[in-house]
Amino acid sequence: MAERVAGVPATEREMTTVVTIADLRARLDAARAGGATVGFVPTMGALHGGHVSLLEAARTAAEVVVASIFVNPLQFAPTEDLAAYPRDLEHDADLCAAAGVDLLFVPAVAEMYPTGVPLATTVTVGGVSTGYEGASRPGHLDGVATVVAKLLSIVGPCRAHFGEKDWQQLAVVRRLVIDLSLPVEVVGGPTVREPDGLALSSRNVYLSEAHRGAAPTLHRALRAGASAVAAGERDPAAVRAAMRAVLAAEPLAEVDYLDVVDAATVAPVDPLAGELRLLGACRFGRARLLDNVGASVE
Ligand code: PAJ
Repeated sequence: MAERVAGVPATEREMTTVVTIADLRARLDAARAGGATVGFVPTMGALHGGHVSLLEAARTAAEVVVASIFVNPLQFAPTEDLAAYPRDLEHDADLCAAAGVDLLFVPAVAEMYPTGVPLATTVTVGGVSTGYEGASRPGHLDGVATVVAKLLSIVGPCRAHFGEKDWQQLAVVRRLVIDLSLPVEVVGGPTVREPDGLALSSRNVYLSEAHRGAAPTLHRALRAGASAVAAGERDPAAVRAAMRAVLAAEPLAEVDYLDVVDAATVAPVDPLAGELRLLGACRFGRARLLDNVGASVE
């Protein structure tokens, strides 16, 4: 691992799977002592092209690439899909090896939370975590912030890669890193989509055929909102109405929220100005899907 050379074809690299924090730290300390830069991609597994795009970005930018697979119980409410969350470690390990991952960190829950849950120490990123996912899934973004803070402390990467697909999560992580002065550069990666616009997601496996057909409507609605902003609309209510109109025509969609917010703070803006993000969450049968697109007002 430490002797990996950037530019060696992925197929010629050897990936090591590590299950303990001590083992991972020892290997990374050795790599850093040899001058290697470390890139990190945290995941919950069930990997797809979106995750792979982050692994590839990490591979290009660092000498040692670490990926983690940990289905984090802290970020699931008791009523949510923790037990049912898709898991396929063999397939995930193949994808990671092919993408050039050097170290695959797959800790057990007891390794990450040796004193059990709930933890005494948790991380809450105020403001940016309040609305949207924070409101719809109470505690979820605290669970994300807490595990990301732990993972960054364990791995100590130069760069950590997160997808724009989970825009609010990315904004939470960026703010966490600023507020706690963590020595890491947060790199956002663009959302990878199916040809019909549906954002790749581990939860897309929950879609029935009919719901899969309906699911791209979420992205279409967000694009309609972005087009309204591009055409000069500055009233957020009118942009929300433009998005709602698209989803209202799809009987299989149950909208959770649709809004246009400041891209960095994830707070409402009225009138619309600056860098914006149009966010949506929508249920299609068993699958609750998130998506977002950008817009800006000069
Ligand atoms: P997970 O849902 O597995 O996603 C891992 C990373 O992949 C996240 O940064 C997410 O934004 C990114 N990602 C997912 N779908 C994507 C797509 N279609 N295009 C680009 N990137 C995509 O997000 C989590 O796990 C967890 O909350 C985690 C950060 C690992 C903390 O537990």
